[in-house]
Amino acid sequence: MNIGTESTPKNRFLPAREVLSAFGLGDRSRMVPTVTDRQELSTADGITYIMETIVLPQERLVHPETGLPSGYEILRSELAMTDSFNLLIREDRLIAVIPDIDPATYPGRWPHYLDATDLHFSFPLPGAVGIEGLWSDFFAAWNLDNAVIEDNFARRGINNYGKDKIYQLGGDIRNVGVVSINKETGQTYADRHSVSELEKFQRSFEDVLSQDSGQYKIVFPVIPTVYDSFKEWREVIPYLYAWHKSYSSDSARTLIVGPGHGVDVWTASLNSSLPVSCVGLNPLEVASAKIIASIAGFEINAKVGDNIISPEGVPAFSEQFDLSYWNMPNYALKAAPKEKFRHLWDEDVDGVVLSRYSRSLPIIMNPSSRALIWNTCELGREIIGIIKQDNPGSSVVMKPLVSNKGAMFYIDNIYGGVSAL
Ligand SMILES: C[S@@+](CC[C@H](N)C(=O)[O-])C[C@H]1O[C@@H](n2cnc3c(N)ncnc32)[C@H](O)[C@@H]1O
Repeated sequence: MNIGTESTPKNRFLPAREVLSAFGLGDRSRMVPTVTDRQELSTADGITYIMETIVLPQERLVHPETGLPSGYEILRSELAMTDSFNLLIREDRLIAVIPDIDPATYPGRWPHYLDATDLHFSFPLPGAVGIEGLWSDFFAAWNLDNAVIEDNFARRGINNYGKDKIYQLGGDIRNVGVVSINKETGQTYADRHSVSELEKFQRSFEDVLSQDSGQYKIVFPVIPTVYDSFKEWREVIPYLYAWHKSYSSDSARTLIVGPGHGVDVWTASLNSSLPVSCVGLNPLEVASAKIIASIAGFEINAKVGDNIISPEGVPAFSEQFDLSYWNMPNYALKAAPKEKFRHLWDEDVDGVVLSRYSRSLPIIMNPSSRALIWNTCELGREIIGIIKQDNPGSSVVMKPLVSNKGAMFYIDNIYGGVSAL
């Protein structure tokens, strides 16, 4: 099976390639699970497709860089605690991953499935040549893909698939993100749409994709399990944009931690002529950052990793950076109830993650560098306390956010007398 193809200019880039690779399903020859069954099926309307069954090894599979959950484990934890999954393949494209379980015996409600249909759209950069027809071509295929998934659910005794998509991983079918930044002011528009909404309002989609000389714009897929907060971006991106722009040189080396969808990485690229580096724990966020870079056409150096320096003391990158920013995992005084892997991506109990970051800054940053972090908790004083304790000479300025309870923290004088870890 070939996921994504370079055959036409319109297929320049398909997000499915990155996302499915992050789940371990990108390159069939390197896939860990065994394919145990392959059936050729057809809908009542004669749309043919293939259903393969894969079986994951029973032992837990960790990511080689971090020792943290691999894509297969994310799949297992997010979809259903089973080893066996069905892959639906239409015209050589993987369009869905569905747990291979018997709904009658599975405890609780039917679990989720991964819908990859939206990911086979080649998101163009607004204003790019050859956009006309892109959306309608995609739509013809997308409707057939959905008919296949509906057929497959009906075979499992589930007939309301098309009604509300309650079974879809991510729980929100508005899977297309749109962000624009005013080039002068940094004022940001950020919102999400569903594919079907855009079909109905094709004109509005074309508007979104039209070029606007006063704005930077991007349209991108919203990837399940990856942190997204469109409301927060509206407030935070203008600060990031202004902060980065005020840095005199466009050759500043920038390091972004925890890129999420990569909207902050894209913001950095707008003021930088060098590749932007980023490191994140969740393989899906690293895939997302690469997707945004590919759509916008900037160079990225993105990897899966734990913090700017690993627990074993290994820096994420060998070079040194001038700017760093991180929308940090939520600082909390005690752990929230564990829900799937959310606690791994978005919780920092007692500031352990923050502390390693601030202690490591002098090692991975240049002497005149600066960092900007933000957090959506109400514990701003405690956050400043941790930074000052671990990096005593640094200066920190806090700016409260109004869109949520959090604040931004501008960190300077990173080298203020701190020795390494
Ligand atoms: C609040 S989200 C921010 C995402 C994105 N930057 C944004 O603003 O939309 C925090 C991100 O940090 C990542 N993260 C948490 N702990 C990390 C660690 N120890 N090393 C690298 N990334 C981490 C999470 O996976 C998550 O994507």
